[in-house]
Amino acid sequence: MFKRLTVVLLAALALTACDRVDPNSPLGKRKAIFKDMLKTSEDLGGMLRGRLPFDGGKFADGALKLDGLAHAPWQHFPKVRDDGDSSARPEVWERQERFQDLASQLEGVTGQLASITRTQPLEATQLKAPMDKVEAACKACHSEFRNH
Ligand code: HEC
Repeated sequence: MFKRLTVVLLAALALTACDRVDPNSPLGKRKAIFKDMLKTSEDLGGMLRGRLPFDGGKFADGALKLDGLAHAPWQHFPKVRDDGDSSARPEVWERQERFQDLASQLEGVTGQLASITRTQPLEATQLKAPMDKVEAACKACHSEFRNH
C-alpha cells in the first residue's frame, strides 16, 4: 500500500516537473518543435519500414513539414544557456559553431528528402537512403549535444 502510494506520488511529481516548462519560453518552444519533429520523422520512417501503410502523398506532406521543422528549433537556443529542465549539454553554448554545423546538416538532408518527394509517384525503396540520412543527422547531434 505504502509502496503504491509512493509510485503515485512520484508519477505526480514527474508530471508537475514537465508542466513547469513554460510553453512560451525558449525551452518550451524548442521542446515542442523537437517533439513534433520526432513524431513527423517517426511517421515517415514507419511508412518505409511497414509499420504504417505507404502513401506517397502523405509522405511528401510529411517530408515538407519535417523540412520546415528542421529549420525551427535553433532560434530558440538563447545566446546564453537558459535554466530549466533542458537535456542540452553545455557544449551547445561552448561549441556553437559545431552545433550550427550539425543543424545545417539536418536542414540539408531534410531539404533533399523534401525535394525528392516533389516528383510523384513515389516508391518506398527510393526514399529509404535519404530518410536514413535524416535519422543519422538527428543521432549525430544528439550524441554530441544532448544528455540521454
Ligand atoms: C544540431 C543538433 C540537433 C539535431 C540535428 C537534432 N536535435 Fe533533437 N535535440 C537537440 C538538443 C540540444 C536537444 C535538447 C533540447 C533541450 O532540452 O534544451 C534535443 C531534444 C530533442 C528531443 C526531446 C524534446 C523534449 O521534449 O525534451 C527530441 C524528441 C528530439 N530532439 C528529436 C529530434 C529529431 C527527430 C531530430 C531529427 C529529425 C533531431 N532531434 C535533430 C539537438 C538536435
